[in-house]
Amino acid sequence: MTNVTSSPADPAAPVIQITGLHKAYGQLEVLKGVSMTAPRGHVISLIGSSGSGKSTLLRCCNLLENSQAGDILFENEAVRWKGQGQNRAPADRAQVTRFRTNLSMVFQQFNLWAHMTILQNVMEAPVTVLGEDRGLVEARARDLLAKVGIGDKADAWPAQLSGGQQQRAAIARALCMEPKALLFDEPTSALDPELQQEVVRVIKDLAGEHRTMILVTHDMRLAADVSDHVVFLHQGVICEEGPPSQLFGNPQTDRLRGFLSASMAQ
Ligand SMILES: Nc1ncnc2c1ncn2[C@@H]1O[C@H](COP(=O)(O)OP(=O)(O)OP(=O)(O)O)[C@@H](O)[C@H]1O
Ligand SMILES: [Mg+2]
Repeated sequence: MTNVTSSPADPAAPVIQITGLHKAYGQLEVLKGVSMTAPRGHVISLIGSSGSGKSTLLRCCNLLENSQAGDILFENEAVRWKGQGQNRAPADRAQVTRFRTNLSMVFQQFNLWAHMTILQNVMEAPVTVLGEDRGLVEARARDLLAKVGIGDKADAWPAQLSGGQQQRAAIARALCMEPKALLFDEPTSALDPELQQEVVRVIKDLAGEHRTMILVTHDMRLAADVSDHVVFLHQGVICEEGPPSQLFGNPQTDRLRGFLSASMAQ
């Protein structure tokens, strides 16, 4: 559990760096030269209207999507590419697996495996992908389930849990990989307001532990509370970014002002 937290020796070393990223789906240009850094121990929130490219950026970060230009660095190591433009893809499968296991993702729809118990869900990747000892992983998985407040649900099936409990199980599953950073894609959007708060509490605890996180969210209060840095994406470009006090307290552009007032009205 130590490698996600900040190292006092070098607290601001970048875990993830993206420079000049371009991504298109066919003719549709979704990311038009995006640069972003997640320093160790920092929480970066990504906000913006629907379709602005937030999920795409997160998925490119994790190499779940190919991008056509720009660099992605993980702890200063650049992704190695083969091909160019529409044909560009990561060249080194082992590097992709290493990067992905170090950047655990939590999705809006939880994506738990329905045929496995909660404990099996949390243990699966460390045992099968990382080849870790089953006994050690089980102890860690049980600790993590207790940490997110569902220690008593280890032997339940996903369908027997509420949405908030399922999302907390998904967070425990992501943490069990002992990643260097966590990527959240709207982790509370599929939940009723009351269940959202259970998940918000867990995310705030993780932020308090200085874990490196990129958080895509429509919850402006959560972004304001947990972020060190907020990035406002508009039509595939970063329109404004800065500390939450600046972005939420003193937005500089009409676009951000419009987005924030529409968000508050919801
Ligand atoms: N697999 C895909 N194929 C084609 N177009 C896609 C694909 N995925 C996303 N897009 C398009 O890319 C654009 C950005 O989508 P993305 O999902 O990144 O937006 P978003 O900011 O996450 O939106 P939301 O807030 O609704 O989740 C949208 O116009 C979307 O329709
Ligand atoms: Mg999205």
